[in-house]
Amino acid sequence: MADKKVYRASTTAPVNIAVVKYWGKRDPKLNLPTNSSLSVTLSQSDLRTLTTASCSASYPTSEGDSLLLNGEASDVSGARTQACFRELRARRQAVEAANPSLPKLSTMPLRLVSENNFPTAAGLASSAAGFAALVRAIANLYELPASPSELSLIARQGSGSACRSLFGGYVAWRMGDAADGSDSMADQVAEAAHWPEMRALVLVASAAKKGVSSTSGMQQTVATSGLFQQRIAQVVPQNMATMEKAIQERDFASFAEVTMRDSNSFHATCADTYPPIFYMNDVSRAAIRAVEQINAAAGRTVAAYTFDAGPNAVIYYLEKDTEPVVGTLYHVLGGEVGGWKEAVVKGLKPSISLDEG
Ligand code: ADP
Ligand code: DP6
Ligand code: CO
Repeated sequence: MADKKVYRASTTAPVNIAVVKYWGKRDPKLNLPTNSSLSVTLSQSDLRTLTTASCSASYPTSEGDSLLLNGEASDVSGARTQACFRELRARRQAVEAANPSLPKLSTMPLRLVSENNFPTAAGLASSAAGFAALVRAIANLYELPASPSELSLIARQGSGSACRSLFGGYVAWRMGDAADGSDSMADQVAEAAHWPEMRALVLVASAAKKGVSSTSGMQQTVATSGLFQQRIAQVVPQNMATMEKAIQERDFASFAEVTMRDSNSFHATCADTYPPIFYMNDVSRAAIRAVEQINAAAGRTVAAYTFDAGPNAVIYYLEKDTEPVVGTLYHVLGGEVGGWKEAVVKGLKPSISLDEG
C-alpha cells in the first residue's frame, strides 16, 4: 500500500532590521547584492513568521507545491521561491540516495502555511522572516543536516535580507565575489548577549502594503541613480567598517550615527532614482525630527532611527535611556500624529529586546 502519511515540520523566524542597508542586485537571477550589509535580529517573541511545511504522497501532484500566506493562497511559481524549493529538494534527494530506506519526501508536493504577526510588505522585513522560516521549515521537514550558513545561502535566493534572519544578534551579509553566489551569505558579527542593553522600538506609521516592492525598487535604483554608484563604492564600505567596530566596542554613539547616516543615504538613492521612489512619509520625517530633539535634549546620542523600504521607523536605543527615548517619542508623536497612536492600538508590542535566534 502506498504511504499516505503526512510529514510535517514547523518553525518560527524573526525579522532583522538593517543598520547598513542592502539595496541593489549585481545578479538578479542568483539574488546577489551590490554591497554587503549588516543588521540586528529582533526577538522572535515580538515580530515573527510562523511557517509549517508538510508533504505527503496523498497530496495530488496536479496541485503542485502551494503556500497559504496569512490565510490567502500565494504564488509559488516565482523564480526565487522555486530556487529555494529546488535547492532543498536536491539536498533531500542526496540524503534519500544514500539511505534508500527513507521515505521519498523529495518527490511529494509541498504545502506551506505561513503567518506573519506583523504587517506584510510594509517595510518591516516580512520577506526576511518569511523566507528564513520557509527555508528552515522545509529543511526541518526533510531532516537535512544543514548549518545556519547553508540555510542562509538558500534563503538569500528567496529574499536577500532573509539570509540574515537565520542568525541572532548582529549579523553581516558578506556580498562575496564568486560568480555562482556560493560565498554570498550571512555570518554572526556578535551575539545579542554581547550588547544586552540594546533595544529596538518599532513604530508603525502605516501597515499598508508598499507601492514599490523592495525587489523592483532596488532594480530601478541600480538602473538610474548616479548617487547609488557612490553609495556602493564609498559610503557602504566605510559604514560597514565603522559599524563592525562600533558593535565590537559597544560604542552606541558611533552605532547610532552610522545607522542614521546609512538610512539617510539609502533613502537619498531612492530619491535619486528616476522616476523617484519615496518610502518615507510625513510621519516618518516627524520621527526623524523627534529623534534629533531627543538627542539634542540629552546632550549625547541616545537614539537612532532607521527606515527600510517603507514608512515605518525602527528606533534603536539602550535600555538605560528608555525613559527619554520612548517617553518622548510617545509624547511627541503619539499625541500629535494620528498614525502613531494607531500603531499602538494595532497591538504591536512597541519595545523589543533581542534574542539569540
Ligand atoms: P518587506 O518590507 O515586508 O520585506 P518586500 O517587498 O521585501 O516587503 O517583500 C514582501 C513579499 O515577501 C510578500 O509580498 C511575499 O511575497 C513575501 N513574504 C512575506 N511574508 C512571507 C512569508 N511569511 N512566507 C513567504 N513569503 C513571504
Ligand atoms: C531596505 O531583501 O526585501 O530592507 O532580495 O529583492 O527580496 P529582495 O529584497 P529585500 O530588500 C531589503 C531592503 C532593505 C534593506 C535591508 O534589509 O538590508
Ligand atoms: Co523585504
